[in-house]
Amino acid sequence: MDIVHDIAILRRLTAPAGTVGLVPTMGNLHAGHLALVGLAKRRAKHVVTSIFVNRLQFAPHEDFDRYPRTFEADCAKLAAEGVDIVFAPDERLLYPEPQQYIVQPPPMANELEGRFRPGFFNGVATVVLKLFNCVQPAVAVFGKKDYQQLLVVRGMVRQFDLPIEIVAGETTREADGLAMSSRNNYLSAAERAEAPRLQRTLREVGARIAAGERDYSALGESALRELTKAGWKPDYVEVRRRADLAEPQETDNSLVVLAAARLGATRLIDNLEVGKT
Ligand code: PAF
Repeated sequence: MDIVHDIAILRRLTAPAGTVGLVPTMGNLHAGHLALVGLAKRRAKHVVTSIFVNRLQFAPHEDFDRYPRTFEADCAKLAAEGVDIVFAPDERLLYPEPQQYIVQPPPMANELEGRFRPGFFNGVATVVLKLFNCVQPAVAVFGKKDYQQLLVVRGMVRQFDLPIEIVAGETTREADGLAMSSRNNYLSAAERAEAPRLQRTLREVGARIAAGERDYSALGESALRELTKAGWKPDYVEVRRRADLAEPQETDNSLVVLAAARLGATRLIDNLEVGKT
């Protein structure tokens, strides 16, 4: 496995390699990331994993500085998975000057996560576009855990005609249902025991939709109340249309329930697909 910090070297290595699959990450890798790597390996001859904590997608009050950085351990895990190249650009390589050209995602990106993290998807889309340009993959893998991010990236690829196939990876969960996330590391033991409630709450909403309930805002409200009662500070629990995250009509039956909530100082997100694929 090569560890590359330079774009010219990266291109020299990947040019003759055949189909390249990219798994973009911010490091602190867990089994969820490694499952995405496995998916990339099945889709592409050569797998590049990028590790870059992207300042542009963090608001000043967010956890950029304390975001866990575990580069050596990450590289060991990626080597064991058979990744060909770890692309780990320095911040000065990716942002040698203040980034003034910013990808502006559509209004959907101002809802859900975007409502509570203004500018987040501008930062994500901008760095993802830059990573795509550096690595020039044919395939890129994104996890469904960050459902809205997946849709923002898919839309960008479609509307900018980028020659990249976006592959979605299922969310990897702990045995008790908690979605794997680097931010789970911030949870105290008591919070970790409470954390699976987020997925359980989404499952309850899913079960009520499966049983025929169609008042989606009432379902969201009742989930918010349940989380609040259990000591969470929820940002949103919303039922949306899977294809574009628009508010669903009664006839829509391919849905996703998305949630974000704070448990102590840690903000967790999760989602559940409901109905037909
Ligand atoms: O999902 C993430 O880890 C990040 O948002 C990404 C896609 C690597 C961009 O920084």
